[in-house]
Amino acid sequence: MRFIDLKAQYAALKTEIDAAVRRVISGGQFIMGDEVEELEREICECLSVKHTVSCANGTDALQMLYMAYGVGRGDAVFCPDVTFVSSVEPAFMLGATPVFCDIDPLSYNLCPASLERQIEAVMSEGRLRPRAIVAVDIFGNPADYNAIKKIAVRYGLILIEDAAQSFGGEYEGKKCGALADSAITSFFPVKPLGCYGDGGAVMTDDDGIAALCRSIRIHGQGSSKYENARIGLNSRLDTIQAAILRVKLKALKDYEIHKRQEAAARYNDALAGEYELQLVAPRQKSAFAQYVILSKNAKSRGALLARLKEKDIPAMVYYPLAQHRLEVFKGINGYGEAFGVADSYCSRTVAIPFHPYLEPEEQDKIIEAVLECT
Ligand SMILES: Cc1ncc(COP(=O)(O)O)c(C=O)c1O
Repeated sequence: MRFIDLKAQYAALKTEIDAAVRRVISGGQFIMGDEVEELEREICECLSVKHTVSCANGTDALQMLYMAYGVGRGDAVFCPDVTFVSSVEPAFMLGATPVFCDIDPLSYNLCPASLERQIEAVMSEGRLRPRAIVAVDIFGNPADYNAIKKIAVRYGLILIEDAAQSFGGEYEGKKCGALADSAITSFFPVKPLGCYGDGGAVMTDDDGIAALCRSIRIHGQGSSKYENARIGLNSRLDTIQAAILRVKLKALKDYEIHKRQEAAARYNDALAGEYELQLVAPRQKSAFAQYVILSKNAKSRGALLARLKEKDIPAMVYYPLAQHRLEVFKGINGYGEAFGVADSYCSRTVAIPFHPYLEPEEQDKIIEAVLECT
């Protein structure tokens, strides 16, 4: 049994993927070109956004956005305490200061009340300028954009959606990747829309930000390749990856996202009441990049992990540490926030096998093992 079964996905899509790879190789264009442009156009259409700027990975996509918005020294970037380090790592590298916020105990996403407390704390300290919020759709579940947007507007902050895990998710009729001023996604292989290597993209309706990102991804190019207008990155999406992603995007839209909902519903039905499950609010759809369950405490989480190992059922912990506990962020001001929800979440969470090709029989085996540990 695999935690995320990319081989099963390849078996289902082999004919189209092999043809797409052959098309690129025989066409002889390996960097940029029609496949990349077509993919960007298809993502714009799928998410109803004006611009998609593909790039080498989701972390670079965030870096391109932070650079395009001019985030840097003296700026505070507000980030949920439970996420992958990439959400705020590039802003930190650019000289900005991450300010972590606690998470909501039900959705595990950025808690709007904690966000507001942290903005107020930064303002009263007066050392940093509140500048941007990076809202993460954790495990594919969209953050609370109605509440977060109001806060962003009230304090004049840039709102970035980290949709690295949520391609295919929805929030009140709008697609994840289209829920903020600008957004990013990751095409890391195990993401809901993953390629066969690294890849990522920026999505935005803002013409100016899109133009800056297009320049930054190719060494800050100006009107031509050798007239550089600014410092940038070398962060293009490989043409082969774009061709693979076009096949996978179609599968995601045609049936994978539906199969993810079905598999999640089966887990929900079997495990509700036995474990704490991530709340997907009404009028939202999670892309279920992961399916996580919360044990009662750290000890019972340990017992569950041991039992799953015994039964050869792969499990992961996303994430063992909240961001404010990472070595790299030691010394960053927590502004007195207790981070009680984030710490409790990290001590109890377990991700169990989940992907659109999970067979009901396999799922029953996982459910049985998990229920033995309640
Ligand atoms: C929430 C989040 N943000 C950003 C990233 C960065 O994406 P990439 O690995 O493509 O750089 C990831 C990837 O794991 C992620 O989970």
